[in-house]
Amino acid sequence: MRKITRVLGDRVAIVQLDDSARVSSLGSGSADFGTWSSTNAYDPGVSAQESEPSASQRREALKEVYAQTQRCVRCAELAATRKTVVFGAGNADAELMFVGEAPGASEDEQGVPFVGQAGKLLETLLGEIGMTRGEVFIANVLKCRPPPNRDPQPVEIDNCKGYLYRQVELIQPSVICTLGNFSTKLLREDPTGITRVHGQPEVLTLGRRAVRLYPIFHPAAALYTPRMLETLREDFARLPDLLALGAPEQVQWPQAPELDDIDLAEVRRDARDADARTADARGADATSAAGESEPDQMGLF
Ligand code: URA
Repeated sequence: MRKITRVLGDRVAIVQLDDSARVSSLGSGSADFGTWSSTNAYDPGVSAQESEPSASQRREALKEVYAQTQRCVRCAELAATRKTVVFGAGNADAELMFVGEAPGASEDEQGVPFVGQAGKLLETLLGEIGMTRGEVFIANVLKCRPPPNRDPQPVEIDNCKGYLYRQVELIQPSVICTLGNFSTKLLREDPTGITRVHGQPEVLTLGRRAVRLYPIFHPAAALYTPRMLETLREDFARLPDLLALGAPEQVQWPQAPELDDIDLAEVRRDARDADARTADARGADATSAAGESEPDQMGLF
């Protein structure tokens, strides 16, 4: 029996594959987050190869997750204080995904991640390895800005992580670059800090996606510390080689896992309550702008 020793997600499990490559213990995931689960894609009788959703199916499913996040009120304080929900931006079929911490003031204003100084540095570093922002997908641990730029709280990370796992499952990157401590600790499910693990790639399974996780320093931290910037630049320079390895071997998932990390019924219920509250607080115009905007119209992905 083959064993994949680290599976990340809400329900961390050791995945064991028997001789027929069946999964005997599932990691996290949410059938309700996927659009293709209702089309028999994960029917146990259908091989994962045949049932693999297309890039456009995954993109449509990602849009649904986008819509859910726009209505999310799981963190009462963040929902009450945010201007926008910063879902993430970039190529919905990216090989390389970055995960930062949380939106700051500029991101909250514009609804797009990494648009401030740290974002400019990220773009510069990408340029140095011959890549553009449009080729990658950039997301955060939290989709809403913690006021006033305080650290994300454990309960907020817990509330929001299902969206990130789902983004990973749908975008299907080969490499995930975690930027700084929060995303690194979350996705490695380990409290070891970024200073000790930066620049060391490892293969992990997140949700249903095996990826090469590559922790690096957060660009915001490197902005003001020349030695850290140098290290970040060196770590960045190894990205092309890592990408050239392609995606790690994937677990064959015979069937959609149970929903339990984020309950869609609960999200819908929350959304209805939020709509009512938002309409009271901001008027109907603000409600439609915040809740229903199409990702394409915002140039997100
Ligand atoms: N820092 C982050 O971690 N994320 C952003 O989107 C911007 C700054």
